[in-house]
Amino acid sequence: MYIISGTASHQIAQDLSKILKIPLARIISKRFPDKEFYFRIVDDIKDKNVIIVQTTYPDPNLVELFLMQNAAEEAGAKKITVVIPYYGYARQDTKFQEGEALSAKAIADIISLNADEVITVDPHKEHILDFFSTSAVSCTAVPEIANYLKTKKIDMLLAPDKGALDRAKQASEIIGCEFDHMEKTRIDGSTVEMKPKELDAKNKTVAIIDDIISTGGTMALAIKELKKQGAKKVLVACTHGLFAGDAVKKLSSSGCDEIISTDTIQNDYSTVKTARCIAKLMENK
Ligand code: R5P
Repeated sequence: MYIISGTASHQIAQDLSKILKIPLARIISKRFPDKEFYFRIVDDIKDKNVIIVQTTYPDPNLVELFLMQNAAEEAGAKKITVVIPYYGYARQDTKFQEGEALSAKAIADIISLNADEVITVDPHKEHILDFFSTSAVSCTAVPEIANYLKTKKIDMLLAPDKGALDRAKQASEIIGCEFDHMEKTRIDGSTVEMKPKELDAKNKTVAIIDDIISTGGTMALAIKELKKQGAKKVLVACTHGLFAGDAVKKLSSSGCDEIISTDTIQNDYSTVKTARCIAKLMENK
């Protein structure tokens, strides 16, 4: 059995290799001068089980994954497990308007061509797993994030909206603090107030948890409002830190005291590791 590491997920592949005691396959990968990708598996994987690890964001990483899967199939791998720490395109999980691409399914269709099993972490919505025509399962990084937050003396865990309340509840149970979700109230034509539905943030250290931080707009608004309401500290945490454009600047200038994300997308804020929850899911299958 071998683990095959994609360029976007070296750290998780290495961690999985240590935890599961499965060697990393020797590979050669490069970009041609025109930026096309080249991939070769050096070890003989014929009739062996392989685990390919590659996050599919941003787009070039998708093409890398397709070529890695093809290389494994061409080399005669017996079983191909594809670990996708962050499955991009999951937010276009329905046709919101006639004529749109159903992106979450389009990508799943292609990945399913050369995969016996797909594993991902905190998909945006659980039902996107049904888009894969092969077996697809997910694990959650919320316990790992909560264990990190536990060291930060959090008084209150908040979801930025009602839809993310379960995540905040799960984390709050591990931390042992109260939880709530933010609610937007329109005051007048140009003013929207956002505050915890039931609880009071005054003088509290608050953490807001979401699955994704993309532009940072959702979190920035929540941070500003909580600080206005007297919160002592506001930390933001997510599984997938996309931090598009000036997201980090936006969060900092809103008064954010700490930005926390996992390593499903490697960045300066990926302090929380996800390999353990992925490995646990594999071991329990
Ligand atoms: C939305 O449904 C997600 O859970 C996140 O709340 C959203 O992707 C955050 O986006 P942004 O950082 O751009 O506000």
